[in-house]
Amino acid sequence: MTRIFSGIKPTGHLTLGNYLGAVRQWVETDQHRADALFCVVDLHALTVDHDPARVRRLSRQAATLLLAAGLDPALCNLFVQSHVDEHTRLSYLLECTASDGEMRRMIQYKEKSARERETGGSVRLSLLTYPVLMAADILAYGADEVPVGDDQAQHVELTRDLAVRFNQRYGQTFVVPRAVLPQVAARVMDLQDPTSKMGKSHAETSGIVYLLDEADVVRRKVMRAVTDSGSEVVHDRTAKPGVTNLLELLAACTGKEPEELAAGYSSYGALKKDTADAVVELLRPVRERHAELAADPAYVDGVLREGARRARELARPTVDAAYRAIGLLPAG
Ligand code: TYM
Repeated sequence: MTRIFSGIKPTGHLTLGNYLGAVRQWVETDQHRADALFCVVDLHALTVDHDPARVRRLSRQAATLLLAAGLDPALCNLFVQSHVDEHTRLSYLLECTASDGEMRRMIQYKEKSARERETGGSVRLSLLTYPVLMAADILAYGADEVPVGDDQAQHVELTRDLAVRFNQRYGQTFVVPRAVLPQVAARVMDLQDPTSKMGKSHAETSGIVYLLDEADVVRRKVMRAVTDSGSEVVHDRTAKPGVTNLLELLAACTGKEPEELAAGYSSYGALKKDTADAVVELLRPVRERHAELAADPAYVDGVLREGARRARELARPTVDAAYRAIGLLPAG
């Protein structure tokens, strides 16, 4: 059976980008068709300046939201990364097969480290090695497929390189995984700045729709979305990034093609209104279910405990095999 692994980082509240780019596929298809593991990757949240209490809170909130969105513990495995030591054990071995040049070429590293430096902060070493930990997340489980948004594709490419290299040098140990991107909304853009990605850790939040935003807040954010000069509704990322983003959001909500939708609008206002309504309806059940689940943290903790137990069982043989293959003396 196909094995799937994917993760989400608790650095901020989950966004519509996370939902459309990744979580919805996990819920609607992946958990039904494969042996699927989904992980709240809390160790990754420590790679940038962080508040311990907030990371802890956001980790539980992310897990609760994933359940609210429809992940079913009877169908898939949901757990928290730091509960399974195999991730960091394997990460170190992979660091010993990767080069610093490879890490420095990662687009996210370049962007995030530049941002940290601009704001006078120092860049954590773990930000540089982040993609190796991500590779370990995936390779520890022998995942065949990694459903992610477009911004993670380069990291999955690196994971493939590291797996192939390790296998060639030390013998067949890892499955070489591939990224699977959604058909639409692989890159949801910020509503106020439609040339940059809608990201959960941005400081300016008026262009970001959070899964837990109230309906009127969602509506206001979409209605105030930056649009482009002119008044024609066309799907063209370069010439009309704002309108294109709205068309893609509406397409993702309705299952129609963005180009086909564009043909039905003669004004930005009508497009915004329909997009706002569609997003509100899309998120309503998630928010309602979240409210129920948030009232029962013991249930969520139980799901995560069982998820981690099973994840450990799955990861340990592969990670132990990697320890042997790379030349470490087995403990007696
Ligand atoms: P993270 O937490 O930034 O995002 C989680 C998932 O949401 C997708 N995504 C988006 N998709 C479309 N449009 C957007 N604006 C948007 N923003 C986010 C991301 O592509 C991702 O699929 N490094 C990862 C977490 C991770 C991981 C892994 C993923 C750690 N280990 C192993 C897969 C496998 C990250 O920071 O995702």
